[in-house]
Amino acid sequence: MIPEPKEFRLTGGKMAQNAVMEEQECSGIGREEYRISITPEKIRLEGGRGTGLVYARTTLEQLRLIYGEELPCMEIRDWPAHSYRSFHIDCSRHYFTVDELKKMIRMSAWFKQNYFHWHISDDQGWRIECRRYPLLHKISAVRPGDHFGNYDSDEGEDRYYSRDEVREIVEYCGRFGIEVVPEIDMPGHVTAILAAYPELSCTGELVEVGMKAGIFKELFCAGREETFTFIRNLLDDMMELFPGRYFHIGGDEAPKERWKACPLCQKRMEEEGLGNAQELQGYMCNRIASYLQSKGKIPIVWNEAVYGGNIDKDVVVQLWTEDKDHQIRAHLDKGGKAILSMVEHCYCDYPYGMHSLKDMYELNMNPAELGARGGDSVLGAECLVWTEFIRSDARLEKLCWPRFAATAEAGWCGVRRPEYEDFRRRLTALFPIFEKYKIQAAGMEEWDPDEETAAKQTAGFQMNFSSEERDEVRKAQEDI
Ligand code: ACM
Ligand code: ZN
Repeated sequence: MIPEPKEFRLTGGKMAQNAVMEEQECSGIGREEYRISITPEKIRLEGGRGTGLVYARTTLEQLRLIYGEELPCMEIRDWPAHSYRSFHIDCSRHYFTVDELKKMIRMSAWFKQNYFHWHISDDQGWRIECRRYPLLHKISAVRPGDHFGNYDSDEGEDRYYSRDEVREIVEYCGRFGIEVVPEIDMPGHVTAILAAYPELSCTGELVEVGMKAGIFKELFCAGREETFTFIRNLLDDMMELFPGRYFHIGGDEAPKERWKACPLCQKRMEEEGLGNAQELQGYMCNRIASYLQSKGKIPIVWNEAVYGGNIDKDVVVQLWTEDKDHQIRAHLDKGGKAILSMVEHCYCDYPYGMHSLKDMYELNMNPAELGARGGDSVLGAECLVWTEFIRSDARLEKLCWPRFAATAEAGWCGVRRPEYEDFRRRLTALFPIFEKYKIQAAGMEEWDPDEETAAKQTAGFQMNFSSEERDEVRKAQEDI
């Protein structure tokens, strides 16, 4: 089974063909905890008041896949090590249909993931119908070409999800106990938004929706009050669609060139006693976070947002890089929480030769960055896929599956999980599930490529980037 249950015991004998099935929701156990008891006469499922029964049924489906209809008698008791077990899909760089997202959601539910981090806004596109600011879906969602790295096409992207489609996704996720966590990335990665509302930037100049990959220099102006009004209104509009508790407000890869040259941003820093541009990012993030908190939400940010050292401790930080780990440690030492999603272990946009299934499985759930509270500050783990270089459902599925399942086990089992070989063996037994749900997963021979294949795949992946883009990224990274 994946994730591996905490307690599992075969009790001898087999269930009879006419065994009855019993389900019960229980108040005396954890909300996500479940129990399964199989005797010759009966299959009994018990689940906590949250999603316990959903997980009991999922495990039963896995057992049927492994053993067929004649299940051996057994007792299972199981609960997750971490409450946040998540998968991320970038729908800004490339749009994926509602049906495709449902496939990805269904499969993730099968491995007991409980959050779908939906990346709906970035430099290259905004993807949701917006009532308050309709130019977002009329202008920010439209990109006249794809010139990502060495790829050149005049076929761009103009699709977005209608409000009804968003509700459909939220409802579908709800069936499996999955909450949708939308991400509106800011203050950087907002070029598409600024293409429609240029008055929110430092220069006010017209920009076009991004057609390249990389790190863009346009940011929301932190000196203008109008920016904060816009963001609050936009969040109100999105909160109508996303009823969940968490809301991601980005914060990654925001080079500070624009802010340093902007009189309004400089004035803001002076008035607020902010010593540098990272602190200005912290200030901006805190204002938005506190608005979300006033609506009962828990804000999440990428790790760069804590580099100013002034972020509210109740903002959850999602770790993906390892630089400035002293700032991350300081945030967590104050009682902050972290979601683990380190690039080398969680990013599925890279070929298996760069991030093998083994690398994914061996995500350290208690890394050094965590500081004094260690694993206690870990909320959970997330696997991700960025889609600059993914233009088809088949490619998306192959890159994500079965790697998403490895992170799902890390989140559910935490630091105490079996060796990789054991995971591989269990995954092999469950592999037919991908065919059942029509997922075009990577075959076993692709999971852990040998050195030569890995080198070839790495070289192939590097070809995606033009040398000009690579230089720009390097330069921008120095100023984050
Ligand atoms: C990220 O990968 N830019 C969070
Ligand atoms: Zn400014």
